[in-house]
Amino acid sequence: MEERIQNIKNEAMAQILGAESVAELEELRIKYLGRKGAINELVKEIPNLLPEKKGFMGRLVNEARSIIENTLSDKKVELESKKAKTTWFDPTIPGIKPPIGHLHILTQAKEEIAGIFEKIGFVRVRYPEVEWDWFAFESLNMPKQHPARDEWETFFVDSATNPKYGQMVLTPHTSSGQVREMERSKKPPIRMVNIAKCYRRQSDVSHTPMFHQFEGLVVDAGINIVNLKGTLDYFARQFFGAQRKTRLRPYHFQFTEPSFEVDISCGICNGAAHSTSSGQGCKLCKAGWLELGGAGMVHPTVLKNGGIDPKKYSGFAFGWGVERTYMMKSGLQIGDIRTLYSADLRFLKQF
Ligand code: DAH
Repeated sequence: MEERIQNIKNEAMAQILGAESVAELEELRIKYLGRKGAINELVKEIPNLLPEKKGFMGRLVNEARSIIENTLSDKKVELESKKAKTTWFDPTIPGIKPPIGHLHILTQAKEEIAGIFEKIGFVRVRYPEVEWDWFAFESLNMPKQHPARDEWETFFVDSATNPKYGQMVLTPHTSSGQVREMERSKKPPIRMVNIAKCYRRQSDVSHTPMFHQFEGLVVDAGINIVNLKGTLDYFARQFFGAQRKTRLRPYHFQFTEPSFEVDISCGICNGAAHSTSSGQGCKLCKAGWLELGGAGMVHPTVLKNGGIDPKKYSGFAFGWGVERTYMMKSGLQIGDIRTLYSADLRFLKQF
């Protein structure tokens, strides 16, 4: 038996040292050390031996087992390190850059708009999106049940009403910041630009239930329409380009008197209303002008509601959609405005 143990050990060592893969080693491990392997077969024979031989043979078998075990594990380490060495690694290859995100197109637009107004002394503010009826309507000269309110398809918040401020709403326009700003600054001069989210019950290719507006408000002694027009022209030149002009069209808002719609000269035909080469109608605009949004001289009732004496002070205000204004700047043809708020990176990466 002693000789058989030696033979098995030698044979195992020879095979292990000649193995070429880890899988082959595993097969050899099962062959020699497995439950039905050669070593276990030897162990089974020991109880039948003469008592004085048992101890000696037992030790020999154990010795053979541990030699086989060690050879197996040494060989495994050797094979694995060889494998690692064969995959060539070039440490001078530049690393893989993780993709870097960027600001959303509308965040960029808001920053740009704010920057233009900050240059001429406007202060950027933000007021609550969940707002009282008072600031969104009543203080802006739109009493309860007034038909002018229909223009704003408002979301009402199901909450207790306040005796002074009325019901809670999701603010449908940034004009709700006008009286708040008058209360905050207490005394003119006021020069605010309020850029914030607004909400209306609307959803189609050109409307989203949540959108952004920027609202300008200037209140001081002797403010008049010339100041309004000058500010709008300044913005148009800065934001759209040096050639662009604005025009005021009479309109009606409850919170301004007089009120206007502001148009900007079309960037394609430059106000000519026809394409210069062919003499045909301009593709982008209808009559040489594009509509931007509302503006006007602050109504005396609104000043009073903000604690400002309309006999001493006057002001102008304007409020436009950020999405709309930005799309007019870049001539972006966005088929469905709702894609701005989708998570589609193929779309968003373009800006
Ligand atoms: N708040 C108006 C709207 O959402 C826009 C507007 C019109 C704002 C005239 C003004 C303004 O400040 O003077 O349609």
